[in-house]
Amino acid sequence: MAYTITLIPGDGIGPEVANATKQVLEAAGAKIDWDVQEAGAAVAEKRGTTLPDEVLTSIRRNKVALKGPIGTPIGKGFRSVNVTLRQALDLYANVRPVRSLPGVEPRFEGTDVVIVRENTEDLYSGLEVMIMPGIAQSMKIITERASLRICEYAFDYAERMGRKRVTVVHKANIMKISDGLLLECFRKVATKHPRIEPVEVIVDACALQMIKNANRLDVIVTENLYGDILSDLGAGLVGGLGIVPGANIGVDAAVFEAVHGSAPDIAGMGIANPTALIQSAVMMLQHIGELAAAQRIERGLLATMENGVRTADLGGPTGTDEFTRTLCETIGRM
Ligand code: NAI
Repeated sequence: MAYTITLIPGDGIGPEVANATKQVLEAAGAKIDWDVQEAGAAVAEKRGTTLPDEVLTSIRRNKVALKGPIGTPIGKGFRSVNVTLRQALDLYANVRPVRSLPGVEPRFEGTDVVIVRENTEDLYSGLEVMIMPGIAQSMKIITERASLRICEYAFDYAERMGRKRVTVVHKANIMKISDGLLLECFRKVATKHPRIEPVEVIVDACALQMIKNANRLDVIVTENLYGDILSDLGAGLVGGLGIVPGANIGVDAAVFEAVHGSAPDIAGMGIANPTALIQSAVMMLQHIGELAAAQRIERGLLATMENGVRTADLGGPTGTDEFTRTLCETIGRM
């Protein structure tokens, strides 16, 4: 059976890693008809919007999308397309498995922690005002509904994946009401999952624990901003942003994308590491039930890494195209 899946190549290194990922999926035998949609700065010039309506319509119709990174101007300019997509489609759970790969020489071998980040609210509400010259205010929105469902997602995920513990990461010692609400919801949900150990950690202590013993945290559930920051910290532990995948999961749709951004510093140079988007595509294949193709890619990736084939971000000499070709050949031999 062929699936129709929305593909948003994105900008910066997005088209390069998206193209690599398409080739790898094809080599693994995944039958996918791509419904390619443009979003981001490039389309804004042509269409007057960074997120044309047909992008959302396509994802709503196909229910699944693979997305390359999209840049967001800092301090001014248009609103983040990524945040808008997540909010418009109510993709409330951002799941980011942070795992070591062989041959990458990660800071800590055997790292295996999953970050489940609430994806729709917190300081990403976009509600900011300059109250008066010199005083700016940003609204941190935390709701009971979103907190309960992200905690439920994290505990369900832990049970489904055979994990032992869920660690809620918060700052309720300072933000007693907003982070306090998340904590209250976490405790309520934890009582329904007696097989999973609930752990509470303050976000600054969590940063330290990530470095000292990330695996103890097991599955992290946290707010949008803390999850964003801890994901990059996690990426640093296992070799960098080039390898960490992610999934944005909602009730009606799911969008799979790497943790990294559009990497404008290396865009067009042919040296981007496509592994993070390829691993995001593996999560996508698992989501749609194409387990054999997912497994072939995972095994191919492990073999390629074990053979020392590495892109520049991991200290190797291999470019995006050569890495992709080697991986496709490895998959073809399996
Ligand atoms: P970034 O993740 O794009 O880059 C940070 C560093 O990591 C750069 O040195 C870059 O070259 C390197 N890097 C990232 N991905 C790589 C890969 N696959 N292979 C090799 N090296 C890689 O973060 P930055 O520079 O903070 O953001 C750039 C733009 O991306 C910004 O406009 C930001 O808003 C956007 N962004 C988009 C995201 C998304 O679409 N989901 C997520 C994060 C940032």
